[in-house]
Amino acid sequence: MNADLVMVVLAAGKGTRLKSARAKVLHRAGGLTLVEHVVRACGAVDAVAEGRLAAGAGLSRPAPAREEGRRKASPAVVVVVGHQGEDVRSVVEMLGARTALQEPQNGTGHAMQVAREAIGDARTALVVPGDAPLIRAETLAALLRAHAEGAAACTILSAKLADPGGYGRIVRKDDGSVAAILEDKALLPSQRSINEINSSIYCFDLAKLWPCLDEVKPENVHRELYLTDAIALLDRGGERVLAQVAADAGEVLGCNTRTELAEVDRLFRERKRAALLAAGVSMLLPETTLVDADVEAGPDTTIEPNVQLLGRTRLGAGCSVGTGSVISDSVFEDGVTVKPYCIISNCRLRSGVVVGPFAHLRDGAELKHGARVGNFVEVKKSTLGEGVKAMHLSYLGDATIGASTNVGAGTITCNYDGVRKNPTEIGERVFVGSGTELVAPVRVGSGAYIAAGSTITEDVPGDALAVARARQAVKHGWAASRRAKLAAPAEQPAKPARRTRKRPRRK
Ligand code: UD1
Ligand code: CA
Repeated sequence: MNADLVMVVLAAGKGTRLKSARAKVLHRAGGLTLVEHVVRACGAVDAVAEGRLAAGAGLSRPAPAREEGRRKASPAVVVVVGHQGEDVRSVVEMLGARTALQEPQNGTGHAMQVAREAIGDARTALVVPGDAPLIRAETLAALLRAHAEGAAACTILSAKLADPGGYGRIVRKDDGSVAAILEDKALLPSQRSINEINSSIYCFDLAKLWPCLDEVKPENVHRELYLTDAIALLDRGGERVLAQVAADAGEVLGCNTRTELAEVDRLFRERKRAALLAAGVSMLLPETTLVDADVEAGPDTTIEPNVQLLGRTRLGAGCSVGTGSVISDSVFEDGVTVKPYCIISNCRLRSGVVVGPFAHLRDGAELKHGARVGNFVEVKKSTLGEGVKAMHLSYLGDATIGASTNVGAGTITCNYDGVRKNPTEIGERVFVGSGTELVAPVRVGSGAYIAAGSTITEDVPGDALAVARARQAVKHGWAASRRAKLAAPAEQPAKPARRTRKRPRRK
């Protein structure tokens, strides 16, 4: 990357129109915060320009972009933070960006001034607003090329919109270059029809921008310093300003309102589904599937309607995910089957595992090859060995279960003693009878057999039988005589005096 180039992401604003306690750039679309999308696109510009990333790579498979950003410190990305600056900082620093603090937030021009120290002596700045998450690295790279070729002081990425309301407008001169950007609220009635808008994405020759920024005045309804006012100052100073119209106006959509945010989220989801379908994933009613940006899935995996695949989930090839399931931050090997209505978070499912319907797996649970978990089973922070079966109505928490063990219906690990969580260790080929309670910490050796309904409080040696329940008593005829008693005429109600007499006896 050209050390003369710096990317500046403006992300200090509050986003008043979202009516949110959270800063605008921390809102999410497509499963990532808005500012993450933008910083990733900035971080991928270099690689895209050099042809190291495929088209669209900055968005559909953002991990390489992030690695790029981390590996090389020099394609400097400076993020101007302010509103909830600490939170924004921690998000963007993870992506290798630096930050400059804008406090208070006196407008986009002021944000640039604040970034000046962090920008240092870079010659060119590519400025991107933190609330334009759909922008692609290819488009940014193309703007940089146009800027270099046009030898301009500033090259603006513009877009033609059917409904330009709310955006700053590009005022062109007869020769096609740009005279000014006029903010929506400052437009004359005759200028309202201008449909070429400012995307707020620009390349600046910084030596020419800085003196103009010093001259910008807060003469507008918000009493802020507008970066857009620098354009007219450049023009008046005899500098050339160009505007390049974005091929896809959709890429520059901002997220100023909840409606715009929802629309941008929808577009991300659509892009992501298209990428998965292209990679050989089958989806039934794909428009009902919600997939986050970083999710991956192998070919011949089938996703039924109304499934959510979230976070860093990675599905292998030939998996199937049943309707209504929500899978987050989990890894499936090939050929995993999840039946309908399962909730799986932060788990690892090895090949051939079958889960559900109605199962809940969480907190680092691992199911080894061919393990099966059935309906109304919750597995927390436990390892189920190869071929383990827990098919009905169980809670397995903090447990390690050896290969080929059968966990009967209704088995519960009593892992919590009111103070701490305790482990349960079950060996291989164990038969755990239905309705067993395993009071942890406890161990059951391989090959052991636990009688149904047992409450196991002590370790069970391998190959032993453990029976831990009261012996059954049978009283012949008891039920029949009770029925007969109930059918007989009712006795006189007991006198209250009897109860008062009884009381002292209790002592
Ligand atoms: C801005 C442009 C407008 C353009 C539109 C495109 C100005 C004055 N107007 O308007 O011409 O059509 O973007 O979406 O620039 N920010 C800061 N510090 C501040 C104020 C804002 O960092 O003091 C950041 C915001 O967090 C945001 C970006 O700058 O990411 C743009 O600010 P926003 O308030 O959204 O500007 P718009 O009104 O959309
Ligand atoms: Ca905006």
